[in-house]
Amino acid sequence: QLRAGSSRIMALLVLDLANPFFVDLARGAEEAAHEAGLNVITCNSGQRVELESSYLSMLAEQRVRGVLLSPVDTAGERLHAFARSGIPRVFVDRTVPEVQGSSVAVDDVTGGALAARHLAETGHREIAMVNGPAVLAQCRDRESGARSVLEGADVRLSVLESAALDVASGRDAGARLLGMSPRPTAVFCANDLLALGLLQAMVAAGVRVPEEMAIVGYDDIEFAGAAAVPLTSVRQPARKLGRTAAELLIAETSGERAVRHRRLVFQPELVVRDSTRVS
Ligand code: RIB
Repeated sequence: QLRAGSSRIMALLVLDLANPFFVDLARGAEEAAHEAGLNVITCNSGQRVELESSYLSMLAEQRVRGVLLSPVDTAGERLHAFARSGIPRVFVDRTVPEVQGSSVAVDDVTGGALAARHLAETGHREIAMVNGPAVLAQCRDRESGARSVLEGADVRLSVLESAALDVASGRDAGARLLGMSPRPTAVFCANDLLALGLLQAMVAAGVRVPEEMAIVGYDDIEFAGAAAVPLTSVRQPARKLGRTAAELLIAETSGERAVRHRRLVFQPELVVRDSTRVS
C-alpha cells in the first residue's frame, strides 16, 4: 500500500474538460508536475456530482501523491469522506471553506464587479446576468460582485440561472433574453462558453452585437477573442492557476514539515473587445 506522498502520480479532477479553461489549467499543472518528475492523470466530473463522487472514491483508494480539485459538490458527504482519507489536496478555481485544504483561485467577486462596472460605464441601464448553477461558489461570487457594483446605481440587473456552464445553455439563455420586456441591452455571462452560445443566438436572431446587445464573458479562453464578434471577457490566468496549484501540492507533499494551508488569490482582469465596444 503506497504512502500518499511517495506516488509519482498527481490527479486533477476538473468540472468540465470540454471547457478550454480547464484544458489550459491542466496544461499549467502538467508543466509543473513534469518539472518535478511527476505525472498527472486528469479526471472530468462533467459538472455531475455522482461522477465526481466515484472519482473521489477511486482517487482515495489509489493513494496518489495528491489531488488538484475543482469540485462541483462541496456539501455532499463524499468530499468530506475524501478529505478524511488523508489524501493531500489543493482546491483550484475556487475555495472550499467546508474542507481543509489550500486553494488557488481568482477573486471572482472582483471579476463579477469588473464585468458589471464595464457595462454600467458604457451606458447600459437594463443589464442581465446569465449565471451558472448556484451550487458553484465561483458563480455565486461573480453574481455578488456584479450586484455590489450595480446596487444604488440606476441600473436594473436581471439574473437568469442556466442549468450548466456550456454553449447550449448559452443559446437557451439567448432565447429567454430575447423574450424579455424590456429587453436588456447588455448581458454578463458567468463564463465564455455561455457567452459564445448567447452570441450565437443573437446572431441567429439578427440582433446586432454590441449595438443592440452587448456581451461580456468570463475566463478569456482562446475562442473568446476569435469569436464572430470578438468577446469582451474577464480573464482568468488559467495556466498560472494550474501551475501554482500543482507547485503548492508538490511543496505540501515533499517535506516532513507540517502543512500550512494557504489560500492563494489571483486578480482577474477585464479584456475589452468588440462585443461591448461603444462606437
Ligand atoms: O466551469 C465552471 C467555470 O468556473 C469555468 O468556466 C471557469 O470560469 C470556472 O471558474
